[in-house]
Amino acid sequence: MKITSQYLRDKFLDFFRERGHAVIKSASLIPENDPSVLFTTAGMHPLIPYLLGQKHPAGRRLTDVQKCVRTGDIEEVGDDSHLTFFEMLGNWSLGDYFNRESIAWSYEFLTSKRYLGLDPDRLSVTVFAGDDDAPRDDESAKIWENCGIPRERIYFLPKKNNWWIAGTTGPCGPDTEIFWDTGKPACSDSCDPSCDCGKYLEIWNNVFMQYYRKADGSYEPLAQKNVDTGMGLERTVCVLNGMRSVYDIDLFQGALAKICQLSGKTYGDDAATTKAMRVIADHVRTATFLLGDPVGVVPSNVDQGYVLRRLIRRAVRMANTLGMPQGSLSQIARVYVDVYRDVYSELSDNSAKIIDELDKEEERFRKTLVAGEKEFLKVISHIQGSVVPGGTAFKLYDTFGFPVEMTVELAAENGYTVDVEGFKQKYAEHQAKSHAGSEQRFKGGMAEGGGVETTRLHTATHLLQAALRRVLGDEVKQKGSNITPERLRFDFSFSRPMTQEEIAETERLVNEAIERKLPVTCEEMPIEEARKTGAIGLFGDRYGDVVKVYTMGDFSKEICGGPHAANTGELGRFVITKEQSSSAGVRRIKAELRY
Ligand code: ALA
Repeated sequence: MKITSQYLRDKFLDFFRERGHAVIKSASLIPENDPSVLFTTAGMHPLIPYLLGQKHPAGRRLTDVQKCVRTGDIEEVGDDSHLTFFEMLGNWSLGDYFNRESIAWSYEFLTSKRYLGLDPDRLSVTVFAGDDDAPRDDESAKIWENCGIPRERIYFLPKKNNWWIAGTTGPCGPDTEIFWDTGKPACSDSCDPSCDCGKYLEIWNNVFMQYYRKADGSYEPLAQKNVDTGMGLERTVCVLNGMRSVYDIDLFQGALAKICQLSGKTYGDDAATTKAMRVIADHVRTATFLLGDPVGVVPSNVDQGYVLRRLIRRAVRMANTLGMPQGSLSQIARVYVDVYRDVYSELSDNSAKIIDELDKEEERFRKTLVAGEKEFLKVISHIQGSVVPGGTAFKLYDTFGFPVEMTVELAAENGYTVDVEGFKQKYAEHQAKSHAGSEQRFKGGMAEGGGVETTRLHTATHLLQAALRRVLGDEVKQKGSNITPERLRFDFSFSRPMTQEEIAETERLVNEAIERKLPVTCEEMPIEEARKTGAIGLFGDRYGDVVKVYTMGDFSKEICGGPHAANTGELGRFVITKEQSSSAGVRRIKAELRY
C-alpha cells in the first residue's frame, strides 16, 4: 500500500497527542513581527518567543505541521529531493522534557509497527562532536544506543553538521539527526550521513535548544532547555514508499498530470523535460501557498513579493519551453487548491486571488519573455569573453522584467556568467534617481535577510501606538501587529471607529515624532524594572525575566524584541491608509511610510 501525506500527518500528530502534546495550527508563511527573515523556514520559527521563555497558551508540549518556504536551494529544484515549499512535522518541549524522551519517542515513532514500522537496521544517527562552545553530546549517543542503534551507526559530527539555529542569532543548540539508508552502496570508505551521494537521507532533526547565540557570536545558556524537532513531510513520505524522488509522492501527481496535459509532453521522457516539469510543479505550489496565505503576498519588486515574482517568472519560462499556453499556472494552482482543501483551507478561501494574481503575472511576463530571450541571445553573440555585463542584466530586468537570477540562469545554460555586482551598481544608480533607500530594499529582495523597510515600519508601529494612546487614551492596547515590506498593520483595543479628526491627529503626532529625529535606544532590564519605567508592552510576563526596552526620545517606551531604526528621522512620511474594524472591540490600522 502506498503511504499518503495525510497518513503521515495523522500518525505524527496522533503519536505526540497521545504523549501529552497540544496540536497547534500552522502559522503563516510570513513571519509576524519579525523583520529578520522573509519567510517561515522551520516549525520553530513562530515559536521563538516561547523557546526563549514566554509562556505558550497551549502548554509546554506542542506538535504541529508547519508550512515552510526555503528558497536558498532554488537552483537545485528539479532534482530528486529539493523543494521550495515543504511541510515540517514537529514536536516541541518548552522547558519540559529533554533529549531522553525526545530520542526515545523518535525511535519509537519510526520503528514501531503501530506507527511507521521502519526497519531499525536502516537507520543511522549523527550527534554533536563538541567544540569550544558546547560539549560533545555523549549523552544523546548513549540514549540512541539504549534504543538499539549500534555504535557504528552513531556518528559524531561538528557544528557544521550537528548544530541548529534559524539565521545567525537566537535560540540554538546541538542536534541529533536521523538518516534513512536508501540501500545505495557506499560511495567510498569514508561515506557517512554527512555525505551527499544519496546513500543517506535525513528524515528527522531533533534540536536540543539550550543556548542563545548573540550578535557577537558568543553563546549563553537559555533560561530553559527546549526540544525542537523537524521532519520533512514530503521527504519522509518518499522514503516510506521506497520512492526515488519527492515528486513521486501523492501531493504532486495531480499537478504533474496537469502539466503533461497542458504541454502534450510525457513526464520522465528525458531529463530536461522532467526537470522543467518539476520546477513548474514546485514553484506553482509555493506561489499558491504564498498567494493564499492569510497574511498574503503579491508579486512585487521587493522582499517577499520579489521572491514570489521570481518563482512565478521562473515557472513561466519553463512552461514556455514546454509549449504550455497562457493561463497554465493558474490551472495547476487549481489542482493544488483541491489537493490541500482539507488541510489548508486558506487556499480554497483565497482561490480567486491565487488564480487572478497568477494569471496576471503570467500574462505580464509572457509579453516580454520572448523578446527578452531574443535580446539576451543577441547580446551574447556580440560579447567578447564569457561574462555578460551588468548593464545588460539591468536592461533585461528593467525592460523585460527578468529577475537577475533568471539572467544568471539563462547565461549559465549558454556557458556564460553575469557580472552581478555590475548589475547591482546599475540598479542602485537607477534607484537613487527615483528614491532614497532603495538599494537596501533591493537587497532585501535579493537575499532572504530582513528589509530595512520592515525595520522602519516596526519603529513606526511603536510611534503609532504611542500616538494612539495620546489621542484615544490608555484604553488602547496592542492586539496584534503585522509588517510586510510595503505596510504596517496594527490591531488595538478600542470600542468605536475613529473619527477623521482623530486619524489626522494620530498621523500628525507620528510625523512630528519623525521630524524631531528622536534617537532610538535600547536597554535590557528585568521586567519589573521595565514596568516601573512606564514601558508599555504587549507581552506581559511572556518574555521571561530580562526584557529589551526600546525608547524613542520622550515619545515612546515599549518592551520589544527589536530590531529598530536608529533614529526616527529615518522613517519617511507616515500615512494611515485604512482604519477599520478587526473584530469586536478591536480596530485595525494600516499605514505606510512614503519617501
Ligand atoms: N529546527 C530544526 C530544523 O529545521 C528542527 O531542522
